[in-house]
Amino acid sequence: MIKIPEFVKNLKPYKAGKPIDELAREKNLKRIVKLASNENPIGPSPKAVDAIKKVLGNLNRYTDPLSHDLVQAIAKKYNVQPNHIICGHGTDSLLAYIVNAFTSESDEIITSEGTFIGIYVSTRKYGRNLTTVPMKDYAFDLDAIANAISDKTKMIYLANPNNPTGTMFEKDEFEAFMERVPGNIMVILDEAYTTYADDNPNYPNGVRYDYDNMVVTRTLSKAYGLGGLRIGFAVGPDEVIESLYKVKLPFEPNLLAQYGAIAALDDDDFLEETKLLNKMSLSLLKDNFDRIGIKQVPTSANFILTIMPNEDCAEKFTEGCMNRGLILRHVKAFGIPEGVRVNSGTIEETEFAIKIMEEVYNQVCKEFEIKEVC
Ligand SMILES: Cc1ncc(COP(=O)(O)O)c(C=O)c1O
Repeated sequence: MIKIPEFVKNLKPYKAGKPIDELAREKNLKRIVKLASNENPIGPSPKAVDAIKKVLGNLNRYTDPLSHDLVQAIAKKYNVQPNHIICGHGTDSLLAYIVNAFTSESDEIITSEGTFIGIYVSTRKYGRNLTTVPMKDYAFDLDAIANAISDKTKMIYLANPNNPTGTMFEKDEFEAFMERVPGNIMVILDEAYTTYADDNPNYPNGVRYDYDNMVVTRTLSKAYGLGGLRIGFAVGPDEVIESLYKVKLPFEPNLLAQYGAIAALDDDDFLEETKLLNKMSLSLLKDNFDRIGIKQVPTSANFILTIMPNEDCAEKFTEGCMNRGLILRHVKAFGIPEGVRVNSGTIEETEFAIKIMEEVYNQVCKEFEIKEVC
């Protein structure tokens, strides 16, 4: 009989936002809107779709393990040396490689409470010791993270903007933090939502720095609308990138992802449309949350974290919305049990969501108030 290691037994599988088809199978709903996974509501970049169609006939061939053409396109777009770039099957995959390649079992990795669940999964699946530092007003507390560094610390994970809170730290704060991090500790700067934040002149755009101990990760899953394709990249010092190539699966990312991504990176019109719709949808959500009385965390991403009066309320709110066809994300597993995240949608989806959230919030809170009085 095979013995399953204790740390594997204790792992909790990643739980994604509920798929639309699954909810449709379970309930008999006329309309379902999913605003639970920070996806692009417009769809995928049309240029990416065209490029993918053109390479379909080559699917009998293995793909380029070095993603040469894609690396060149990234290097040109972000003004980075090609040998500082590696592409992977989404940021999730790259995070797992980075943890695996640069830390050993029982090494300490520090991050914040209330950040991206993928880093919790990646550290625990390799049996690393994860230390989570409390947040400050639902944002990364970089001073507290620097204070938590010990002899055992090998890696620090930051997400900017952060998921699920949408908060962003600024250049000054980030640079002061990097001054405090010893050079032998690797910093991962996850910039999955950079497109929504980089118009802000105080945004510390990670690819413009050249710290010897930092790797920046980016994804095309969000603003470029390619979550289902699985494509992301990392930028870091050449010896770090060289090591990551040694642990990466050889034919990752796949052929379609490589060519879809090259075309998407060139699709400026799509990106502008995405940013504009995001602003409009978030502004509708913000104004209506204020009107309804739903607490929210100021965001620099494509979603808003709403704060419910307590965990029970957050659970009931999410479930109540789901029963009416609106899929949101209760972010208890991210470390914020009172939080429910909603991402931007089309204007129609946003209006549908506001109507349902208002109805359910009023119901759930009433119920909560009665319970409190009892
Ligand atoms: C902060 C952050 N990093 C990484 C990812 C995962 O990106 P990918 O789809 O490229 O694996 C997400 C997805 O939600 C995210 O929020």
